[in-house]
Amino acid sequence: MATTLIEGIGSLVTNDSAFGGLCGVIDDAALVLDGERIAWIGPRSALDGAGADVRLDAGGRTVVPGFVESHSHLVFAGDRAQEFAARMAGQKYAAGGIRSTLAATRAASDADLLANVDRLLGEYLAQGTTTVEIKSGYGQSVLDERRSLELAAAKTPYSTLLAAHVVPPEFAGRTDAYVALVIDEMIPACAELASWIDVFCEHGAFDEDQSRAILAAGEAAGLGVRVHANQLQHGPGVELAVEFGAASADHLCHLSDADVEALASSDTVATLLPAADFSTRNRYPDARRLWDAGVTVALGADCNPGTSYTTSMPFVIALAVRELRLSPDEALWAATAGGAKALGRDDVGVLRPGARADLAVLDAVSHLHLAYRPGVPLIGAVLKDGVLVAGGLS
Ligand code: NIG
Ligand code: FE
Repeated sequence: MATTLIEGIGSLVTNDSAFGGLCGVIDDAALVLDGERIAWIGPRSALDGAGADVRLDAGGRTVVPGFVESHSHLVFAGDRAQEFAARMAGQKYAAGGIRSTLAATRAASDADLLANVDRLLGEYLAQGTTTVEIKSGYGQSVLDERRSLELAAAKTPYSTLLAAHVVPPEFAGRTDAYVALVIDEMIPACAELASWIDVFCEHGAFDEDQSRAILAAGEAAGLGVRVHANQLQHGPGVELAVEFGAASADHLCHLSDADVEALASSDTVATLLPAADFSTRNRYPDARRLWDAGVTVALGADCNPGTSYTTSMPFVIALAVRELRLSPDEALWAATAGGAKALGRDDVGVLRPGARADLAVLDAVSHLHLAYRPGVPLIGAVLKDGVLVAGGLS
């Protein structure tokens, strides 16, 4: 397999604490890639002169691990810009908005849905995100949930069954009947296509008992657990996530002391999605409190047409620093290594020998610029599996 040497890296974020600090930053660094994996990493001065098949020069720029998005809803059709505008004029976000996307998604062809997923994955990649989890949840019939997951699984190894997103209109007033459909038909029909089960445990969506029954059925079908928890108000979502040993509890804008303690004594990652709070004028989660309590924190963009129509992890990092009071190092770690932990991976979100050669070159002298220069397109080049997929490097 061809080896590639990247030198001229002014600052390299490894997320390997062996190199010091949370982010393991190496100045004046070099990287050797062997095919789709990293073969060597360290200061340029420590690289022995051995030849590589290809030599690239980062021109003094910064290299970071590719961002890891552990929470997205990309299989959808339609647009909710008017709903966004109404919210900005004072209307409150309510879970019921999901139903307009449901109708548009059901009516769309496979080709149109796939084109939308491709478009959004292209946006993620161009902005440095090399790993993306995709949820179903805008189909909500056995066939449409299965179709959503087939489309997702064609594009990523990380997909999640979110049949319990909201109660679809044909089950209005009959939530328990819909929960039974999820358990008896959707999970059996879809489990082979997903790695996780997820539930929107929230007032207006699914309550504690309904959520528990769905998560238990998903777990019994061999799926890992994720939970949309405590986004709009305080509820039982975090307790449930911890009870199931969930990979992740997501949103977490309303937390009790007991929630924070439960997360801190668990392996469940707290995935924070501040772009959704930005676009819904929701309260931001208390990231500082979670981090200081020892909870593993991830950041995601939560791309979806309702609450967070962005694919920009740099934007999320800037929000996390300005609004959630994470340091720039903590925010970058959470958007890379944290996301990887939320997906149960240790070979992405970190740059070390054996890890996947997924990385972003920043047109910046330091990774601090991700938060310091909000809204500026700093992603100069992106490599996924060792292949240049966006921008330029020569
Ligand atoms: O993560 N909270 C539930 N699901 C999405 C929003 C879905 C929508 O409004 O379409 C979220 O914010
Ligand atoms: Fe979500």
